Amino acid sequence: MKGVILAGGTATRLKPLTSVVNKHLLPVYNQPVIYYPLEKMKQAGIKDVLITTGTEHTGQFMNLLRSGSKFGLKISYEVQEQPRGLADAVRLAEDFSDGEPILVILGDNVFQHNLKPAVAKFKKQKRGAKIFSVPIKNPGQYGVVEIDKKGRVLSIEEKPKKPKSYLVQTGIYLYDGQVFDLIKKLKPSPRGELEITDLNNLYLAKGELTCEVMKGWWVDVGTSFDELLRANQLVAKEIRK
Ligand code: G1P
Repeated sequence: MKGVILAGGTATRLKPLTSVVNKHLLPVYNQPVIYYPLEKMKQAGIKDVLITTGTEHTGQFMNLLRSGSKFGLKISYEVQEQPRGLADAVRLAEDFSDGEPILVILGDNVFQHNLKPAVAKFKKQKRGAKIFSVPIKNPGQYGVVEIDKKGRVLSIEEKPKKPKSYLVQTGIYLYDGQVFDLIKKLKPSPRGELEITDLNNLYLAKGELTCEVMKGWWVDVGTSFDELLRANQLVAKEIRK
């Protein structure tokens, strides 16, 4: 299993903080945002990690993270020429993954849940994808997941006006080797991007998508200034314990 961290995008919701600085390099308490998903890769037992970034900031990521040896990881880099969506960024990992399954984490997701057991289980399964979800109060600004009593996924809708549940799709995904063929089938959404939700819905349509509800807190710091602040407060509280 290899790891992929998506660290591109324009981060318009955090401007002017992100006018010059990449969102994933902003501080969350005592570390840059991207350190948190990197630590989660390590905790999950993954050693080989690819970071995808936009054209402007690649050099800064390399300066900060270098080969990855200080984290006990081997880090590679790919450049996403245009911000064409999260599924388009996953596409860049095709050569890197070399047929192995991948754990994808959005570079701005800071969370408590330990992914190691799910990763170990997924390695044994032959096909499919897994998403990780959490219940939150205002789900409409995320991908909203509807599950049945047995935990089977019924639907995923991207930023719906009328959310069907309180469960949201986080930025953590496990994919098998067929992910790259499925990405080739995607069409750009109305905002001109290849959406990760459309990709996950292709797995759902094939009956190959599962969902794990995560324990503990989860923050997508790219959502708003308040979420960025909340991540700082939660991390600070944990460190001071
Ligand atoms: C993306 C996904 C969304 C998901 C979220 C989690 O949204 O499109 O489904 O819930 O990440 O972090 P974005 O942050 O790009 O708006």
